Amino acid sequence: MSPEIPFGDLRREYQALGAMLDGAIKRVLESGWFILGSETSAFEEEWARYLGAKHAIGVGNGTDAIRIALEACGVRPGDEVVTTPLTAVPTVTAVCMLGAVPRFADVSPSTGLIDPSALSRVVSRGTRAIVPVHLYGNMCDMPAIMEIARGIGAAVVEDCAQAHGATYGAAKAGTFGLAGCYSFYPSKNLGAYGDGGAVVCDNDEVASRCRMLRNYGQRARYEHLAAGVNSRLDEIQAAILRAKLPYLDQWNARRTAIARCYDAAISGDSVRPLARSDGGVCHLYVLACRDRAGLQAHLAARGIATQVHYPRPVHLQPAFAWLGLSPGSYPVAEELADSVLSLPMHPFLREDEVTQVAEALAEYCQRNR
Ligand SMILES: Cc1ncc(COP(=O)(O)O)c(C=O)c1O
Repeated sequence: MSPEIPFGDLRREYQALGAMLDGAIKRVLESGWFILGSETSAFEEEWARYLGAKHAIGVGNGTDAIRIALEACGVRPGDEVVTTPLTAVPTVTAVCMLGAVPRFADVSPSTGLIDPSALSRVVSRGTRAIVPVHLYGNMCDMPAIMEIARGIGAAVVEDCAQAHGATYGAAKAGTFGLAGCYSFYPSKNLGAYGDGGAVVCDNDEVASRCRMLRNYGQRARYEHLAAGVNSRLDEIQAAILRAKLPYLDQWNARRTAIARCYDAAISGDSVRPLARSDGGVCHLYVLACRDRAGLQAHLAARGIATQVHYPRPVHLQPAFAWLGLSPGSYPVAEELADSVLSLPMHPFLREDEVTQVAEALAEYCQRNR
């Protein structure tokens, strides 16, 4: 039986915006131009302007955005790249696709984000790049991370796949490092209706290398300067993203309002919401639980779907066994992986559904003080 309140439901977005999205798609179909055309370049301009970045380069997905950005920033096979073990696996897959070697720094227990003091202990002059991940919509401590990176001469490539519109101070995610990487996977705060991604940066040379790398390494037609990849944001996805971008801020505000309703339902110490950054965008609403299975069952019995982001830290995934990292290597990330639970969070949740989730959460907290 499917839950009454599913974790996400993208049909509602299409119901709300349908005619506009139909128009955007039709415009591309009628143009007869599907790859690297006017929609992609217009979206690149609009996305860069929204973020306050000089360049945006549309690519095929968020994983490729990280892989391409790292290469454009000078990371080469065998180089060390430091990131967080508590992230979506593709953050690390992207490092490996390049033949670089991932290393990890543990996270902060309050936020689940990479901990600058752990980072400063892990990095060395041999570290070529740092990939902070603005997980769950919350910004990492970018001033501290930039200072660590400057001290060792490493590039910073931000993983902003969960942080569309998030700010630290006045600046948007992706504008602190040498490059920022976005995914437009459908369920992201700004999502396409298929795969999509972008690299953003201020540096002209990094931007032109990204443009070249995403398109078979071509600088000009039939002039290949690198063994690049085929990873381009297509015209239909770009047209959809252009139609949706004007709504991003209001959708993020709605997410924050929902998060506040959930916060208000919490009492006692059976659960604690992970700390959110000022200017965060609530991609996910994540609780650390004393008894995750108990809360999950309590909510499921009331028709409320939940998910876990993420049940296993990356260093303990079989794909990365070759790194030789055993349980206990990153205790904070491991403990969070055992205790986090995400509640339904998207801008099209109805008020009665938010109330239903909040009441179920309040009831659980009262019973399990
Ligand atoms: C933090 C993070 N990094 C990278 C990615 C990869 O993005 P994509 O699925 O578009 O390749 C995702 C998306 O799942 C993500 O959440």
